[in-house]
Amino acid sequence: MITPTYMLVGIYTLLGQAAAVGVVGTAPGFAASTTGGGSATPGYPADIAELTTWLTDDVARVIVLNKEYNFIGSEGSVTETGCRPASNTCPDNGGQDAINHADWCTNGNAGTGSTDIEVTYDAAGVTPINLGSNKSIIGVGSAGVIKGKGLRIANGAENVIIQNIHITDLNPQYIWGGDAITVAGSDLVWIDHCKISLIGRQMFVAGTTASNRLTISNTEFDGVTTNSATCDGHHYWAIYLLGSNDLVTMKGNYIHHTSGRSPKMGGNTLLHAVNNYFYANTGHAFDIETGAYVVAEGNVFQNVVTPLLAKVGSLFASPSTAANTVCNTYLGHDCQVNTFGSSGTFVGTDTGFLSDFSGKTIATAAAASADIATSAGVGLI
Ligand SMILES: *[C@@H]1O[C@H](CO)[C@@H](O)[C@H](O)[C@H]1NC(C)=O
Repeated sequence: MITPTYMLVGIYTLLGQAAAVGVVGTAPGFAASTTGGGSATPGYPADIAELTTWLTDDVARVIVLNKEYNFIGSEGSVTETGCRPASNTCPDNGGQDAINHADWCTNGNAGTGSTDIEVTYDAAGVTPINLGSNKSIIGVGSAGVIKGKGLRIANGAENVIIQNIHITDLNPQYIWGGDAITVAGSDLVWIDHCKISLIGRQMFVAGTTASNRLTISNTEFDGVTTNSATCDGHHYWAIYLLGSNDLVTMKGNYIHHTSGRSPKMGGNTLLHAVNNYFYANTGHAFDIETGAYVVAEGNVFQNVVTPLLAKVGSLFASPSTAANTVCNTYLGHDCQVNTFGSSGTFVGTDTGFLSDFSGKTIATAAAASADIATSAGVGLI
């Protein structure tokens, strides 16, 4: 029997649509067993109200975003006293002023010479949406955008996948203007092929409570900004990992035009940073404080002024092919060397903590490559 061509086209079109609305792949590394909304029927939220309901309820959901959801203005704006911190040496010319969140302006953190000023900001940006458990949030092509509000997986919410979503425009002119993605008191979170840009405060933060198993993969952290805490068009507040019991895999991410915290780490965090591309960082990439344990392998550092600000915690920086065989026992592969171009030094030979990787799901490693710049971000899966 000959099947008419038009029927095949119809069938393939249907299959194509069905394939486009599922999570693609599984998390590399620690969060490998994250299933999100699983096989729930995909739903397309009509507007920001329905999106918020679906994100926050306790129903397993696959939430598909095929347009922009703009929260700016939805909760009004706030005018109050904030400050111009000492770091803003370029007022009204590309610097970042601050909202007085947690008394930041008045407790000394704003630095000597900080002055009170009036600030006006969008209210939606400073309060993230608190997600329920068992959610997949998936973008279609590069259309899935959440504007003006962040996502928070906290207080026991777990098993969440955020894939192919662009989160942008959270009061970028203000320190404390909002965090794009927060995890605090969770387990099994996978962020994949997302893009984060124009954020007031943290692009990603794992708060002080335990985040347990977390994977951030193939995500673009775009630090290009018109309001920089370092007055140079680069975003300072990129990635902050300070959970009390966190296993974090960062693989295949493109972290560019930042000027600090890329990442800053503390608490009790084991980080496997593999095959990331750090580019055009005018300040520091890694700031490894007490309680942070890092294996960094197969990463590219290009035009990164200070790859390592501090190493109070532990770092295995994959120093040489010969030294890197030590990884095999614990990570299941020989570590890959990092590569450097027009960048500072990145030295760490600690191996005592490598046994912490035993028995965990570990991401594989490839040779360092700047091709990450074209494989990370939205619209690519
Ligand atoms: C999430 O899914 C798991 C596995 O199906 C289930 O045990 C748990 O109760 C769900 N959580 C919520 C809050 O629905």
